[in-house]
Amino acid sequence: MKKITIAIDGYSSCGKSTMAKDLAREIGYVYVDSGAMYRTVTLYALDNHIIQQDGHIDEERLRQEMKNIEISFQFNPERGRPDTYLNGVRVEDRIRTLEVSNHVSPIAALGFVREEMVRQQQRMGQEGGIIMDGRDIGTTVFPQAELKIFVTASAEIRAQRRYDELTAKGEACDMQEILHNVEERDYIDTHRDISPLRQAPDALVLDNSHMTIEEQKQWLLREYERATL
Ligand code: DC
Repeated sequence: MKKITIAIDGYSSCGKSTMAKDLAREIGYVYVDSGAMYRTVTLYALDNHIIQQDGHIDEERLRQEMKNIEISFQFNPERGRPDTYLNGVRVEDRIRTLEVSNHVSPIAALGFVREEMVRQQQRMGQEGGIIMDGRDIGTTVFPQAELKIFVTASAEIRAQRRYDELTAKGEACDMQEILHNVEERDYIDTHRDISPLRQAPDALVLDNSHMTIEEQKQWLLREYERATL
């Protein structure tokens, strides 16, 4: 069967990656979490004090250091999805902290960061047989993707999901802070100049506010089957 490209875009914490990685496993496709790549650049910038205490980004330094940031993925059979590596070191947990979440949107708004990430993402998708999730996958990275999904859910529901995820990992967090972070990221992601979060005209919309993970999985599988008929 022909291997297609599947682009899944949408707001933060709306369960895109869960449904994407489940489908990838089911149909034997490669899954790439493009948000993890922007998070990894952010982690590098935090570790190397390119982002200062007050949030200021030393853009010139980051531009020069982009060549020192090597991002890769390695499938982790225990988690059933790829782990993210920065220069050969596993950073999967470190990129999910609230500190990285709080700084990632301004990093993802930088043109030179996006150019490099998009280049790497397009290279990963050259052969097809890929499911990538993010904000600009159906619009910029793979505008020719055979199946495009745009996922949405209310900000409150997404904040609750993020809260549950972080508390399950034992990370202390505050619901109001998370909601604020979700809303702030929505704003930056949809208002930035380069590749803002937009629904591609040919994307199918999925509002999963009141759907279970299983229902979403079935919905996506049906759409995949329809796209490959
Ligand atoms: O999906 P996520 O929450 O892990 O994404 C982290 C950040 O990266 C988020 O603020 C939006 C940004 N991002 C982006 O700009 N483009 C993508 N393709 C994926 C993520």
